[in-house]
Amino acid sequence: MIAVARLSPRWTPDNVAVVDLAVARGPPQYHASGIIYGILDAANQIPDSFYTDIGLHWFRAGGAQMDAPNRGWVWGELDGRWASALSNYLTVRKYDGKFQLLLHNLWGTDHADESMDWPGDDGDWSDYDKFLDRIVENIIQNEMTAGLHIDIWNEPEWGFWKRPQSQWLDLFGRTYHRFRNDPQLNNIPIIGPSLSLPPSEENTWWTNFLRYVAANGTAPDHYSWHHIESLENPANDLQNSLATFDRMRNAAGAPARKININEYLNLGDELNPAATVWHLSRLERYDTPGLRANWRGGPNGSHLRDFLASLIWRDDPQLPYHPNGDWQALKYYKTNMTGHRVATSGSNDRKLDVYATVGDKVRVLAGVRVREGTWGLTVKNLDAVGLPASGQIGIQTWGFTYVIPETLLLRPSDRGVITYSYDNNEVTFPVHQYGEDLKTAWAFEIQV
Ligand SMILES: *[C@@H]1O[C@H](CO)[C@@H](O)[C@H](O)[C@H]1NC(C)=O
Ligand SMILES: *[C@@H]1O[C@H](CO)[C@@H](O)[C@H](O)[C@H]1NC(C)=O
Ligand SMILES: *[C@@H]1O[C@H](CO)[C@@H](O)[C@H](O)[C@H]1NC(C)=O
Repeated sequence: MIAVARLSPRWTPDNVAVVDLAVARGPPQYHASGIIYGILDAANQIPDSFYTDIGLHWFRAGGAQMDAPNRGWVWGELDGRWASALSNYLTVRKYDGKFQLLLHNLWGTDHADESMDWPGDDGDWSDYDKFLDRIVENIIQNEMTAGLHIDIWNEPEWGFWKRPQSQWLDLFGRTYHRFRNDPQLNNIPIIGPSLSLPPSEENTWWTNFLRYVAANGTAPDHYSWHHIESLENPANDLQNSLATFDRMRNAAGAPARKININEYLNLGDELNPAATVWHLSRLERYDTPGLRANWRGGPNGSHLRDFLASLIWRDDPQLPYHPNGDWQALKYYKTNMTGHRVATSGSNDRKLDVYATVGDKVRVLAGVRVREGTWGLTVKNLDAVGLPASGQIGIQTWGFTYVIPETLLLRPSDRGVITYSYDNNEVTFPVHQYGEDLKTAWAFEIQV
């Protein structure tokens, strides 16, 4: 389809995202190429290309959701969970990946309630210390230090901790010291607090945590939290949460460290390419790694520990796996967006965000955070890639479509080339997000 369009100047910064071709930001980092769980316990089921084509390099697991006789340490049933975690770790290392080991799953929080013993009850840590000793021994015996990270306790405030907050803080310091003081494992990076809610001044899990690690000398190597909350919550946006975190960390006197968003995408609205690309754009802008949340369960956790966190599917184990639109968007991000990254900004209403590279073409990946409407996309400083300051420009559009996680998408849908007239060294064109394309992410390409 070829059409020449001239847009009336109706855009305001509120609904326009911008790509600045004059500001180079170095090589692509694939910060969004991470998943939690999603790997089968039995090795070599998912073909390599499903990992490598999307550049997966961050992973996180610990045998969650396994039923008896594999409910975790607290039931005296550590072995099956350990075997699952070890197998996942070995898979991850095939791809040179980094692996966050989830201690709370090995301990067995998903099969524990208030009535049971929890680490540190009545000031008695002896059983928890034995648990840590066993994990340390297993790590050493299996030579699994390369790429390993220890995630101390996931989402205590969401429900994976059924005791007072102060007891969790004790656990944090204790676990930190156990690993950091171990003569063989003292170099393993430590991650936490992995709270389900992003930092906010009103949240005592955050304020007390920061105060505690500052005083206790146990700031993790990566501070972690999740962006899996409601879209209506402005804190659930990396653009806001990073600034809040820095303010809070400084106020508490805690040291600066790396940040890791070890779950992104909520269950209700965000399982689709539009939201994936919106998050991806922010993770790239702020140079912050993120891991795709995983909302599957299934008998014995069999769907949680499969399907690469809802990126691929097969109806039954006899069939080959197939990719969905999310996977195809990540594949474009990894394999097509070559060259160097350039600066971008999202729309002021925080609904449209973009990631862009300059290589053989200018390529922009665009995602609207799951809302209908029309947004604008400005690509400025066109002369930086050798284009004239005014004239006509053809823009090729690809759509990464989506229905449900199981829906096959073999390749993005070709929406043709539209030619726009432009001047002032920049072009602005519309992003239409309606109806069947509510969940679609877009790639826009300009020949250079
Ligand atoms: C840090 O916390 C641990 C565990 O509660 C405790 O044993 C240690 O004494 C504390 N260290 C400091 C410096 O506060
Ligand atoms: C759960 O999965 C594990 C590992 O895949 C397997 O060993 C175990 O038998 C399964 N348990 C049930 C109840 O299916
Ligand atoms: C992405 O790159 C691959 C490999 O070079 C190519 O086959 C494919 O057509 C490209 N996709 C798009 C949408 O340009």
